Amino acid sequence: MNSVDSVLDAAPVADWRSYPIHVALVGVQTANDHVAVTWSDARVSPFHHQWLRDNCSCSQCVYSVTREQLFEIVDVPPELHPQRTRIDEQGQLLIDWQDGHHSRFHPGWLRAHAYDDASRAERLAQRPQSRLWGAEMSAQLAQFDYPAVMTDDHTLLQWLLAVRDIGLTQLRAVPTTEDVLPALAKRLSFIRESNFGVLFDVQSKANADSNAYTSFNLPLHTDLPTRELQPGLQFLHCLVNDATGGESVFVDGFAIAEALRQEAPELFRTLCETPVEFRNRSRTSDYHCLAPIIALDAYGMVSEIRMGNFLRSAFDVPVEQMAALYSAYRRFIAMTREPRFRVQRRLDAGQLWCFDNRRALHARTEFDPASGARHFKGCYIDRDELLSRIRVLQR
Ligand code: OGA
Ligand code: ZN
Ligand code: ZN
Repeated sequence: MNSVDSVLDAAPVADWRSYPIHVALVGVQTANDHVAVTWSDARVSPFHHQWLRDNCSCSQCVYSVTREQLFEIVDVPPELHPQRTRIDEQGQLLIDWQDGHHSRFHPGWLRAHAYDDASRAERLAQRPQSRLWGAEMSAQLAQFDYPAVMTDDHTLLQWLLAVRDIGLTQLRAVPTTEDVLPALAKRLSFIRESNFGVLFDVQSKANADSNAYTSFNLPLHTDLPTRELQPGLQFLHCLVNDATGGESVFVDGFAIAEALRQEAPELFRTLCETPVEFRNRSRTSDYHCLAPIIALDAYGMVSEIRMGNFLRSAFDVPVEQMAALYSAYRRFIAMTREPRFRVQRRLDAGQLWCFDNRRALHARTEFDPASGARHFKGCYIDRDELLSRIRVLQR
């Protein structure tokens, strides 16, 4: 780091990240409603006057303790103009406003937030991309050692990135004690509780309040599709698995949705656009959620799958849409049964699955409870906590 960098890094910016300076500001020109800056790589970035005033990070505009904005753009007139603009000796953009306010922009921050076409395309390309997978994942599982995850931040980050980008990971060398999940969750953030508890016990039980707590085959599903926000990450920790059967099955719901988009676009659209009701009722609870099976993000990428045949209500759509909904639903389920998408692995004592519950559908084959004990412990953590932890580790 050179001396200019170290001075600039201390400059106030409106958040907790750092903005390395890869490209310098070399010119600035004022136009009618914007300022156009030129960078040392010849890129030109226009910034509207309102945008610049809105993003002033001085101590009057941003509270230095929280680094959150105090200023509101509506408190200055929309036609507010710079009186003077220049680049100072440290390479920062300085603006003196008509009303006497002064703003200073760190070039690293400005470049990271530039909204010319090239800068926006660059940011879009740098977004984390999901790595889609199929049956081949069975032989290439992303596996991590529990002791390393617990003690080494680099291993922790590698594991969390695999959860984010692949959506299916396994931890090994995990103690078979009931305190593991709370400790592991704490390493990441905190557990999301549900009506099944902070931790839930996946065991065949008399009087089960879910098909999960039987020895039946449990078809591919996401957990709690009955909630407005499905849990982001699911942990399944094997304490004992001595029963015959009871293998774990996974498919990448994003890969299946993308394949459906290619192979039968109209069925894909039906699953994106038709709300389906999922419900879970017991003596003391009554949950339901009406939402499409496939959700897309703001970029049109598949961001979530909601599926659980055993938790689904009767379809309720206009008469003329019912046949199309069944076609789309049947096709999706049929695809989850295709060998090209399926990973089937037995989870043994001392191993733990951690997967993106809103992406990877999971299942269990039938097991024989008379043949031996089978006990998994589970918990959830939301996706936001994963992403926040990754960003802090990457700072
Ligand atoms: C569940 C579940 C898997 C298993 O409890 O929701 O999917 O292997 N269990 O028992
Ligand atoms: Zn200010
Ligand atoms: Zn489940």
